[in-house]
Amino acid sequence: MTRSITERIAGRMRRIAERATQGQAGDAPAEAIADANPAVEALDWARTQPGWWHDSGNLGAPVLERILHHAERVGTRCSAETGCGFSTILLSNVADRHTCFTVAMGNSLERVQDAHHFNRDRVNFVIGPSQLTLPRHSFQDPLDFVLIDGTHGFPFAHLDYYFLHPQIRRGGMLLIDDIHIPTCGQLYEVLKEDKMWRHVEDVLFTAFFERTDAPLFDPHGDNWFMQGFNKKHFAYKESLVSALGEKWWEK
Ligand SMILES: C[S@@+](CC[C@H](N)C(=O)[O-])C[C@H]1O[C@@H](n2cnc3c(N)ncnc32)[C@H](O)[C@@H]1O
Repeated sequence: MTRSITERIAGRMRRIAERATQGQAGDAPAEAIADANPAVEALDWARTQPGWWHDSGNLGAPVLERILHHAERVGTRCSAETGCGFSTILLSNVADRHTCFTVAMGNSLERVQDAHHFNRDRVNFVIGPSQLTLPRHSFQDPLDFVLIDGTHGFPFAHLDYYFLHPQIRRGGMLLIDDIHIPTCGQLYEVLKEDKMWRHVEDVLFTAFFERTDAPLFDPHGDNWFMQGFNKKHFAYKESLVSALGEKWWEK
């Protein structure tokens, strides 16, 4: 049976510890060689890098580890992200095709492109503010895995969400980073109440959601009263009973 990435990492760490106690830390046993996985190697490498590996602030190792776990769990062939950094390097070793919407400002793009573990053949960079590039982009295939970690002001993460979320297949993953920033936190709170998403976990400041079977909420309509967040927090529920029916907020 195929072992998951997490099991392989755990097995690998165990073997390294065993070798260290047996005084053979420099030898690579046949099992470890057989286990060689570029994504795990990229993750191992990222763990050893300094905190501000690029000047926009990179994801931490615990988040990268869960990205790898979930990307593998849902079977990631096509992925996309806004912003770039360690996540790009990692996903370039997991997905068959990864699309990265980022800007050529600061040094994150250049650092990624120069990184030894970056698998350039699998990545399509779309350069420019995602506010402009995403609406013009047409995706060829449904997305299995999406990370929103580009620009964080209002309503930019929301815009990234607007253009990316209809592309995510059922069972696919959506990650929102920096949920401690109020604007991203607001998006996070709305998604937690949305039927389209199952909140899987938060790792540090990154939220992991899985697309449910619920139909896509009409991206061209209004129907705000059908959204879980509004049903829960609307302060004047009774005022709409004549229009929407008894206990409309519980339906
Ligand atoms: C927090 S960093 C991303 C960190 C990355 N996920 C990692 O694992 O290291 C934010 C990224 O967003 C990019 N960015 C900034 N403004 C952007 C915009 N308007 N559209 C797309 N990307 C943008 C930055 O250049 C940077 O690469």
